[in-house]
Amino acid sequence: MSPTDIDLKNSCIHPLQFDKDLLSVLFRSADKIKTLDASIDGRKKLQLLLPHIRAALYFNQPSTRTYISFTNACHILGIKISDIRDSGNSSEQKGESVHDTIHTLSQYTDLIIMRHKDDNAANEAASFLSENGVKLINAGSGKDQHPTQALLDIYTIYDHFKNKVKTDKVREVHELIDGKTILIAGDIKRGRAARSLINLLSKFKVSLILASPDELKADSDINEVIKKNKELTAIHVNEIGSNFNDADIIYMTRIQDEYDSKNESSAINYEPFKLKYSHLKNIKKDAIIMHPLPRRDEIEITIDSDKRAVYWQQEKNGLWVRAALIAYMFGLNKELELL
Ligand code: CP
Repeated sequence: MSPTDIDLKNSCIHPLQFDKDLLSVLFRSADKIKTLDASIDGRKKLQLLLPHIRAALYFNQPSTRTYISFTNACHILGIKISDIRDSGNSSEQKGESVHDTIHTLSQYTDLIIMRHKDDNAANEAASFLSENGVKLINAGSGKDQHPTQALLDIYTIYDHFKNKVKTDKVREVHELIDGKTILIAGDIKRGRAARSLINLLSKFKVSLILASPDELKADSDINEVIKKNKELTAIHVNEIGSNFNDADIIYMTRIQDEYDSKNESSAINYEPFKLKYSHLKNIKKDAIIMHPLPRRDEIEITIDSDKRAVYWQQEKNGLWVRAALIAYMFGLNKELELL
C-alpha cells in the first residue's frame, strides 16, 4: 500500500502522508498549542482535551528528544502514558516477537508511539493495528523514515520565515517554503531524518543541494522521490565549504555508524561535511542552520550563539508539532482553534 493511501487519523508512518493543506492545519494547531502552553490557564485547557486517552511509548532504539518530546506532548493534552524504553526490559528478551509486543500494547492503550531499529516494523504494526482501532505513530523506523522529525523540521522553517515576513496576513506553508534552497549535508544514505525531510520537501518547489561522501550518497529511493517532482531540483556535491552561497537552509546531520556492519564508517572522510565557525562569514545573513540532533562534531559548538543557528529551537518545536499531530489524529484540531 502507498503511504498516501493510509489514513493519517489511524497511523502516521511516512512523511508523504502530509500534504500542503494538512501541514497548514497542523502548523496552525502547533502555533495555538505553543501560545496556550505559555499560560497556566492555557495549560489547564489543553489538559482537558484527551484525559480519557492512554498511550504506550515503545522505543527499542535509543532516543532523547523524540521520546521526551512525545512524552510531554502527551502530558500537554492530558494523555496518560506507559512505556517500554528498552527491549532488554520487555518480554522481547524472552523471545516475544515485535508483532506480539504490539498486539499486547494495543490491549491496554489507544495510541502506540513506536521507534524501532527495523526499517519495516512501523509499516507492519500499522497494518496489524488498522484492524483493531488503535492508533500508531512512527517515531523513527531504522534507516527508513522519521515522519515527525520532518514535520518539526518544516515547521521550524515555516515558523522562522513567517516571523520575517512584514505582513499580518496568515501565510500558507508553501508560500514560506517554495523558492528556498536547502543544503542537506552528511549521511544521506542511512539518515532517516534526511530521508524523511527530502520526502516531505518533494511536496514543494525547492532546490536541494545534497552534500555527502561518495559512500553515503542518496539511495535510489530518494532519487526516485526527487525525480517524481518536476518542480524540485537537486544536485549532488562532495563537500559543503563552497556550497553556501545560495543556501537559505543548511541542514547538518551526523554519520549514522550504528548501522555499520564492519566499522566501515571509520574509513570515511567526514571532515568536508562539518560546519566550522570560519564558515559563518560565507553563509547568507538570513539563512538558518538546522540539525535534527544529536550532534557529534558536525557543528562546532561556538556556532550555537550565532543567530542563524536554530537547532535548539528546532528540537523544542518537536513538542508543539507532536502535540498538534496527536490532537489531529483524535479529531481535535477544530476544537483547538476555539480554545
Ligand atoms: N532527532 C532525534 O530523533 O533525536 P533522538 O534520537 O534523541 O530522539
